[in-house]
Amino acid sequence: MTHAENLAGPPLATLPESSSPGESLGVLTLPSSVEEMDTSAAGPVIWVVDADAAQRAEVVATLRPFYLLREFADAAVALASLPSAPPGVVVAAEQAGVQGGVDFVRALRRQPGQEHTPLVFVADAPENRARALLAGADDCLIKPYRRSTLVDAVSSQINAQVEDSWEALPAHARAALRETLSVFGRISERLLNGGPVAYDSVTTACEPLVEVVNRHEHRILLDAVRGHDNYTYAHSLRVATLLALFGGLAGLRDEEQLVLASGGLLHDVGKMSIPHAILNKPGRLTEEEFAVMKSHVPATLSFLERNPDLPASVLVIAGQHHEKLDGTGYPNGFKGSNLNELARMAAIVDVFSALTDYRAYKLAMPAEQALRIMTDDMQTHLDQQLLRVFKATLLDCAA
Ligand SMILES: [Fe+2]
Ligand SMILES: [Fe+2]
Repeated sequence: MTHAENLAGPPLATLPESSSPGESLGVLTLPSSVEEMDTSAAGPVIWVVDADAAQRAEVVATLRPFYLLREFADAAVALASLPSAPPGVVVAAEQAGVQGGVDFVRALRRQPGQEHTPLVFVADAPENRARALLAGADDCLIKPYRRSTLVDAVSSQINAQVEDSWEALPAHARAALRETLSVFGRISERLLNGGPVAYDSVTTACEPLVEVVNRHEHRILLDAVRGHDNYTYAHSLRVATLLALFGGLAGLRDEEQLVLASGGLLHDVGKMSIPHAILNKPGRLTEEEFAVMKSHVPATLSFLERNPDLPASVLVIAGQHHEKLDGTGYPNGFKGSNLNELARMAAIVDVFSALTDYRAYKLAMPAEQALRIMTDDMQTHLDQQLLRVFKATLLDCAA
């Protein structure tokens, strides 16, 4: 999906204030749902460099719900801060420095190690765009622009860096990531524009993924998507990888593993229709927001059911990964006896992945801590016997 397709709201000047990711710092309390989770903050820091206080505040208000930010009114202070804490992405305005924003861009590019730091320039007029790009900006927005455009621009820069880093990976891992990302993009287009999921293209994209898993190199994939800013893709890739791994240990091979991986990749595609501000909210969801979040399951199913030939296992993974053994899950509140082994496996992998996923505003929880929570606090939700197998799978592969 485009990163901020649901943010297509009013122009910047009318933006409301949003809560700071910093407010999510605190002790982890067990959520009633993984989507309500709230853990400590971490992630690439986005620098906003602009001497115009009102304009800077608007940019900050737009980005703050999704990213960790550092503000600079003074470009010289920003440049002096580079060695101690380099930025993940810089958003610099025309008013960024005494000599103007373009001069700041040139000065930043001259600093050691700053040749490739992603930089989004905010220009006052279209004629300034070329100068900014020539000076070294990677992208340029022209005022006035929609807040979704700014979020998308920052997100694209983060993703480009992550995807560039895949170049250094072994060929099969690189293929697994590139092909799944590409098919995910096509799925998001189908979701928006109509038409069924082309299941063959999903299984084809998952072939290198299964190969990586069967080489016991799944960690490469799990780590490589950590910083990716398309959360639905990153989470789905991790679920696909872990489901293929889990299935592999249970003795499944080839075609069956491909179905599991494909189910994992597709299990949350309905999240692409959830508003960005809910999907990426750092804090706990309100009851109303949680109701919207839960709608991703029927949204996923109605999309997948456009293809009548989809394997039943894929629909089970997509439709039942939020069900809990005690019947408190959603969307159907199925109890244990209604949940087959695949649904139970999907629930375990989904919870584990969500707990250990990286988000821009929180640290990824260590696997040991996630497994402890799943064992101690989710006894009535998750199949503990299968969870022991899953733990053994992970331990086996860590050895
Ligand atoms: Fe889900
Ligand atoms: Fe999920």
